[in-house]
Amino acid sequence: MAQVNSATDKFYITTPIYYVNDRPHIGHSYTTIAADCLARYHRLQGQQVLFSTGTDEHGQKVARSAAQQGVAPQEFADEVVEAFKLMWKRLHIEYDRFIRTTEPDHVVAAQSVFQRLVDSGDVYLGQYQGWYCVPCETYLRESDLEAAVCPQCGRPVEQVAEPAYFFRTSKYADRLQQYIEEHPEFIMPTSRRNEVLAFIEAGMHDACVSRSRTEWDIPVPVDYSQSIYVWLDALVNYLTVAGYPDDQQTFQTWWPPRVQLIGKDILTRFHATLWPAVLMALQVPLPGTIFAHGWWITEEGDKISKSKGNVLDPYNIARQLVDISNATTAVAVDSIRYFLLREVTFGLDGSFSWAALLTRFNADLANDLGNLLNRTLPLVERYLDSKVPQPGPGAGELADQIDKARTTVQQAMAAVSFRAALEAIWQLIAAANKFIDERAPWNLYKHAKLVELEAVLYDVLDCIRVIAIMIQPFMPAIADEIWRQLGLETTGTQQTWATCQALQLPPGIYIQPGAPIFPRVDIERSLKRLQGQVEAGEETQPSAQPPPVTITMDQFGKMELKVGTVVEAHRVRGADKLLRLLVDIGEDQPRQIVAGLAEQINPRELLSQQVIVVANLEPATIHGVQSQGMILAVGDKEPIALVTIDRECPPGSTVR
Ligand code: MSP
Repeated sequence: MAQVNSATDKFYITTPIYYVNDRPHIGHSYTTIAADCLARYHRLQGQQVLFSTGTDEHGQKVARSAAQQGVAPQEFADEVVEAFKLMWKRLHIEYDRFIRTTEPDHVVAAQSVFQRLVDSGDVYLGQYQGWYCVPCETYLRESDLEAAVCPQCGRPVEQVAEPAYFFRTSKYADRLQQYIEEHPEFIMPTSRRNEVLAFIEAGMHDACVSRSRTEWDIPVPVDYSQSIYVWLDALVNYLTVAGYPDDQQTFQTWWPPRVQLIGKDILTRFHATLWPAVLMALQVPLPGTIFAHGWWITEEGDKISKSKGNVLDPYNIARQLVDISNATTAVAVDSIRYFLLREVTFGLDGSFSWAALLTRFNADLANDLGNLLNRTLPLVERYLDSKVPQPGPGAGELADQIDKARTTVQQAMAAVSFRAALEAIWQLIAAANKFIDERAPWNLYKHAKLVELEAVLYDVLDCIRVIAIMIQPFMPAIADEIWRQLGLETTGTQQTWATCQALQLPPGIYIQPGAPIFPRVDIERSLKRLQGQVEAGEETQPSAQPPPVTITMDQFGKMELKVGTVVEAHRVRGADKLLRLLVDIGEDQPRQIVAGLAEQINPRELLSQQVIVVANLEPATIHGVQSQGMILAVGDKEPIALVTIDRECPPGSTVR
């Protein structure tokens, strides 16, 4: 199996830069999560990592989308960039550089590359006669077209006849073919590599690398009547991030990228041919591995696209998972990261389905991993007063399993095989669960075999520590939560790959158990709910109700309940049910609260009434009126009575 070269202590990894005409969706997120996972894994190994992602902002596609919305392209791009950055933050992605092709250092790099290619004779002026697909920003020959539409996206193409600059791809075809043949790790996976070789063998044509000048593109430095072709501009981003051309020190440090992750859609024409050929012409080393992953499609087998209106937003999925499972948002996000990297072999296509996601959530996360934690920590609380014991004689029984998992994960990550890495980690989880079953600490306790009991519980806690490190690249927030529950946060102990070995858990610390991380879900019911199949009224049937959820004192403590006195009450114009109240809760200003009480209560009756206010509820705008809290009332759907107090209390008094 081809393996990524891991010889140096520097690891530069890139994602494609995404067009800003689209909002971030599951496809973009997939590549970026995968890159984040590899970046985190190499950071854990103690390597210095440069992880870049960003946006591809020039080109006709973006200019047209902006025009359609009646905004300037820059303004349009600025807004979408924020959406991408927010999505990456929400998905726990920690990049080092977010590169935008409109940034000054990139414009310099793109022009400098063009100039050098002209100077070396690799770029020449010619005449382009052919077709152009704006959605794909791709030049096409007559022979590329399928029934007069773009073979890639199936949309109409435009005819182009104009002077243009060409890059001598053909000059590099033989060298490139030889390079790919001699370096099995250069294009991965192998099936894609074969496709690329077939593409090169079919004959490479010189690539058109300019268009007649548009306002929204980088001008060709030698000819201001032309703009740099958006794909050449975009590919150069990888050089810009590494300091090309002026910051030689940075460039020497980071170049070449060790891994470039892309989707299979942009491999053959761009990343596997034009890109390395340009690097050869620039006399710059080629990237270590270009890995082209598969495509996420819908359950029905359709491509995910804006025009089809079937775009999946991973953060929306996370929020729905929170509703279904009662997990925290951070846990839901990590569960989706896990699902995307576990469900489908990296390199193959996959389809998203809720049934598959919820099955993984219950089986792998709640049952295997969650249970390991939820059964072990209470035993330590009960038998060892929450204190991590000394390993003592007999400890270290899971050492071989840990070593085996570590070696397999390393091999899998070097082959960019996230699924195989996770499978190895889950084998370790299974081994730890089996170890508890077999050694039955409850029996050891019953028979007062304390030395053995301590050794067994130490081993399991220690193994959970290793598992937390191993899952960190995939599920960083969950790893941190497990770390916290083990009590390791208090010791300042760092997660490092070198400590994925037995007997490294410091004895004497106190575990800090919390609420279960993965509350199990009722899959059948959740799927019905998601499909909107729950009949009206069924929700209120006792049998159809979700199982009661217990909350901790701590969770309850987060709710700020206060006594308030209503000082003003008005109807909201145009909304029959709503009242706008001003309620004094002992702050400088009374709070404005919108309440659905108008049909039950005359606003005048409310004046001077004392009520209970949820004071730290997120503010909301209801029917155009800001509401800064909620008033407690009795009633499931319609309020039937107000909750009040049996004697007067100062406004702002705490309710407990
Ligand atoms: N701007 C170019 C890339 C330039 S890189 C020098 C581009 N942008 S894009 O916004 O269309 O993003 C394409 C990339 O997004 C794919 O290569 C892939 O990484 C990701 N995906 C977009 N949709 C996808 C799926 N449905 N499934 C998986 N990944 C896909 O092309």
